[in-house]
Amino acid sequence: MKLIIVLLFSFFLEANEDFITKDEYASQLYKNPRGISCVLCHNKDGSSKLIAKYTHKQRARELKTSQINNLKYEDFYKALNSRILGMPRYFLTDSEIKLLYYYLQKQKKK
Ligand code: HEC
Repeated sequence: MKLIIVLLFSFFLEANEDFITKDEYASQLYKNPRGISCVLCHNKDGSSKLIAKYTHKQRARELKTSQINNLKYEDFYKALNSRILGMPRYFLTDSEIKLLYYYLQKQKKK
């Protein structure tokens, strides 16, 4: 009986590793990394988005993001490790950055 429980339990643990696919994980990470979704400012597919319109010194201005699904990996990586005005600093791990990049490249092809 004990053996069966141990076997079932280890099977469950192993099955759990593949519980969500890489694609699902990548898309979830993009939608909710550290609680602030990239979608808010970069759309679902990493296309350009108008975030705000405001007036500064009596001139109309816009805060707009550029397309982020067409960057070279080095540039994407550098951007996520630097301070960007208007964007939260996430402190993502290298593998998370890779996964976000993977997700965005797939959006471009759609
Ligand atoms: C609150 C808004 C906001 C959120 C949330 C946000 N960003 Fe940004 N992001 C910006 C702004 C503003 C810029 C600077 C304008 C630009 O270059 O697009 C920027 C720039 C970037 C750039 C550099 C673009 C370039 O051309 O060099 C990358 C890459 C990027 N964001 C990725 C992400 C990813 C991935 C996430 C989620 C982990 C994210 N951003 C979440 C606002 C945001």
